[in-house]
Amino acid sequence: MSVLGVLWGVSAVFFSNLLQGGPWQVLVIAATALVGVASAWVGRLLLRHAWFRHRLSCFSTPPAHSWLIGHLGQMRDSEEGLLDVDRLVRTHGHSCSWFLGPFYHLVRVFHPDFTSPLLKAAASITVKDELFYGFLRPWLGQSLLLSNGEEWSRRRRLLTPAFHFDVLKGYVAVFNNATHTMHSKWIRLSSEGQRDLEMFQHVGLMTLDSLLRCAFSHSSDCQETPHEFTTAILELGDLIMDRRRRILHHWDWIYWRSDQGKRFRRATEVVHSFTRRVVEHRRTLIREQSHRESPEGTARDGTAGDTAQRQKRKDFIDIILLAQDGEGGGLTDKEVEAETNTFMFAGHDTTASAICWTLFNLAGHAHYQDRCRDEVKELMRDRAEQDIKWADLSSMPFTTMCIKESLRLHSPVLAVTRQYTRDVDLPGNRTVPKDTICLVSIYGTHHNPAVWSDPNEFNPLRFDPANTRERSSNAFIPFSSGPRNCIGQRFAMAELQVVVALTLLRFRLSLGSNPDTAGTSTGQGIRRLPQLVLRAEGGMWLRLELLDPPCTDGLHAQ
Ligand code: HEM
Repeated sequence: MSVLGVLWGVSAVFFSNLLQGGPWQVLVIAATALVGVASAWVGRLLLRHAWFRHRLSCFSTPPAHSWLIGHLGQMRDSEEGLLDVDRLVRTHGHSCSWFLGPFYHLVRVFHPDFTSPLLKAAASITVKDELFYGFLRPWLGQSLLLSNGEEWSRRRRLLTPAFHFDVLKGYVAVFNNATHTMHSKWIRLSSEGQRDLEMFQHVGLMTLDSLLRCAFSHSSDCQETPHEFTTAILELGDLIMDRRRRILHHWDWIYWRSDQGKRFRRATEVVHSFTRRVVEHRRTLIREQSHRESPEGTARDGTAGDTAQRQKRKDFIDIILLAQDGEGGGLTDKEVEAETNTFMFAGHDTTASAICWTLFNLAGHAHYQDRCRDEVKELMRDRAEQDIKWADLSSMPFTTMCIKESLRLHSPVLAVTRQYTRDVDLPGNRTVPKDTICLVSIYGTHHNPAVWSDPNEFNPLRFDPANTRERSSNAFIPFSSGPRNCIGQRFAMAELQVVVALTLLRFRLSLGSNPDTAGTSTGQGIRRLPQLVLRAEGGMWLRLELLDPPCTDGLHAQ
């Protein structure tokens, strides 16, 4: 008799006995099997935990709740959470290990010598982890920010031309225009008696407005009348933070049944259907245009084709739709939608945070504010139009130093995380084992006293070229660094320069207070609020006084 025959015989006897034993016996066996599977799972989890703890023993570990629970619940999204990071940096200097129950094993790094090998590692071995980035996927799809390996390289190659200098030049007019709209609103509100304004609300709508114009040439009027699409984008940002905080909502099965999950789904549908419509429309227009024109730019219908003119009018979506790689392949509509959604997500809140904190720091340091204003006024002297031009951006060195110092002190993105498909060596014979989550703390690096003297002080002179020579290139990383750095950093810097310069040209800034909670002023006691980007608890209230004589050239009648 063959082995198969024996097995068949044994199983037949076993199952016939089982069925004769009745439902209790079936239940007992099912329960035993379940306990067996669960024990195997727990056993594997604990072994994996012990293995990671052993491999990470080359890093110092801050006091944890216990061997098993570790540092679960110790990361706080508040001012206190940031003060905890300061303490961690003072105690551990460059890095430490951290674990969230037996599930997640992290290395936290906050010194350039340690961040550098991690951020500069080849993109082919770098992976964006699901713990920090996975919740963005239903909204952004498999886009540049979330993809890895070959897929990421191809996208990065195709999208880089969208941020070329020649393209960015065209956006400076958009930044001016969106800022004029915001300032007109401020002047109107001030004439109605509102002297102090909450910056995040106003600046957030302005950066969204300018991104909509740069991405789709879409004039949404969202600064005055929020559109369904803009409200949905703002809501999605809040919902992602909320989901990170609630550990039960980390499981899809629970989240999509919760109120927040349903709101997330609705908001995503609004955003996706908007981008889908725009992409389809643009694809059709491009097809029609290419049909009408010859490749040299001469219109087939006989009219002169001005390539330069058309190039100027191109927005992100045109450039992405027309992008082709070496083999002549471009992005599909679905991919274009994902990238556009990603630009909207990655580009508006970050820039708004950077602008708000720069204005806040200048409001608290009147002498630096005056020096920037003098610089901008000098630039604008004898000009009929009060618009910042592309060429002006390199002629405001002190204002740029203030912006950089603000990006250091109040970095909009506080940390990035990475995983690696192989071990990565760090200084001091330390090794990060593959699959460990590496939390590169931008905040910690920017506040590390071993790197920056008096790190909590706002001192733009740190960025005077004479003072930057000795510093590591990875000491200042608001846009991250290495192959996966921010693709939009030149765009962001240009927008920051335009908005800050125009604001100083028109307004004197000082720290204000919330009129509804009179007395709680935005001063030295401001409480930072680390969310997807750095915000201020209770908002950021600044007092804006129109300068005398007023510089209202270019403002829209309201
Ligand atoms: C002050 C403003 C900004 C800051 C501080 C900032 C910061 C960052 C940081 C730290 C990263 C790395 C993220 C990571 O590794 O997970 C990043 C990536 C990215 N940023 Fe920005 N960003 C800003 C503005 C923008 C703008 C304006 C855009 C687009 C219009 C943009 C688009 C992106 C994209 C697409 C990525 C992913 C790049 C890749 O993985 O290849 N960002 N940004």
